[in-house]
Amino acid sequence: MIQKIADGVFSVGSVHWERRVFDELIPIPDGTSYNSFLIVGEEKTALIDTVDPEKTHELLKNLDKLGVERIDYVISNHAEQDHSGSIPAVLEKYPMAKVVTNPKCRGMLMDLLHIPGEKFLVVEDKEEISLGGKTLKFFLAPWVHWPETMLTFWVEEKILFTCDLFGSHFATSRLYAEEDAKVLEDAKRYYAEIMMPFRAQIKKYIGWIRELSPKIIAPSHGPLWKNPNFILDAYEEWVGDRLSNKVLIPYISMHGSTKQMVDWLIDALAERGIETVPFDLGKIDLGRFAMELVDAPTLVLAAPTVLVGVHPMAIYAAYLVNALRPKLKLVGFMGSYGWGGKAAEHVKAQLSTLKAEFLPPLLVKGLPRQQDLKKVEEVAEVIYEKHRELNLIGG
Ligand code: FEO
Repeated sequence: MIQKIADGVFSVGSVHWERRVFDELIPIPDGTSYNSFLIVGEEKTALIDTVDPEKTHELLKNLDKLGVERIDYVISNHAEQDHSGSIPAVLEKYPMAKVVTNPKCRGMLMDLLHIPGEKFLVVEDKEEISLGGKTLKFFLAPWVHWPETMLTFWVEEKILFTCDLFGSHFATSRLYAEEDAKVLEDAKRYYAEIMMPFRAQIKKYIGWIRELSPKIIAPSHGPLWKNPNFILDAYEEWVGDRLSNKVLIPYISMHGSTKQMVDWLIDALAERGIETVPFDLGKIDLGRFAMELVDAPTLVLAAPTVLVGVHPMAIYAAYLVNALRPKLKLVGFMGSYGWGGKAAEHVKAQLSTLKAEFLPPLLVKGLPRQQDLKKVEEVAEVIYEKHRELNLIGG
């Protein structure tokens, strides 16, 4: 759809209302959008990012509707195909256009889309190009969330085009975000799934983005932020050190023994004033799980032994936690087994990036007995002490 942002500046991307999975991995219950921005200067015309190849026809239709006969620059902030995948079609329609991007992104676009090297105009950090009355300045911002990512700033009107950064998977025909809980939840889900592993870099970027004092932040997924402080403040909290007094318990149970341990732990923690967030790994919503990881200090993974190793869903959960690199301070593992195995070793091997303290694993043979449940109670006590040490509970 076409929406006017300012004189000569339009959002010309596509809303993907019905998409429910991203990268064949991430659930997106509210769909998504691929925002592409047309900027018409007195001399040159630029297109900032394109759309997913599935929606190329919509982008081209929008450009036709606006009567765009010439595009001089296709600015690529990020090489991932949901933003770059329509560049070849745009170049075919507008053969005079050059792809403007940084050296790293150029290489990636050549590999991913086979765009010929001579089609590029390479820019460095803080370089500018003039469209005639409109100046675009480029800021390299690697690792949000690929190594080649950059941001584009329209200097005169102070609009910052951030591609994935500050985006949300939220299909809407509203150009600007409402400042409500729903918008914030989608943005947090996006941050948790995509950006959380890079929070150290993002922390640094927030500082200089505030100094730029953009009037609008325009990501390439979801609505634009007319009050940039709303999303900057939210990101500052998510990337910061704040933790909540809660324990995540991803679990799976085959015959109920491990579940008994989980239930006992939930009660024991509740009695100590600690919130628990259990996730049945048979039905896990990866996005919600990632969101809960944003400020969780403690995680206890619970799973039974299958044959000689841990249940494969536990490996899946541990792999995700490891990839998302949350702020966890304490990690435990518990589960039931029949005759042996190496469940705890398998789980720990998957969690190598975490800078957390690991509790001794609690493994129970068969159905938990009273003495086993007492040990679960002891795990709760250790968590309680840790949360007190972290100043998450008073007294
Ligand atoms: Fe929206 Fe990293 O692509």
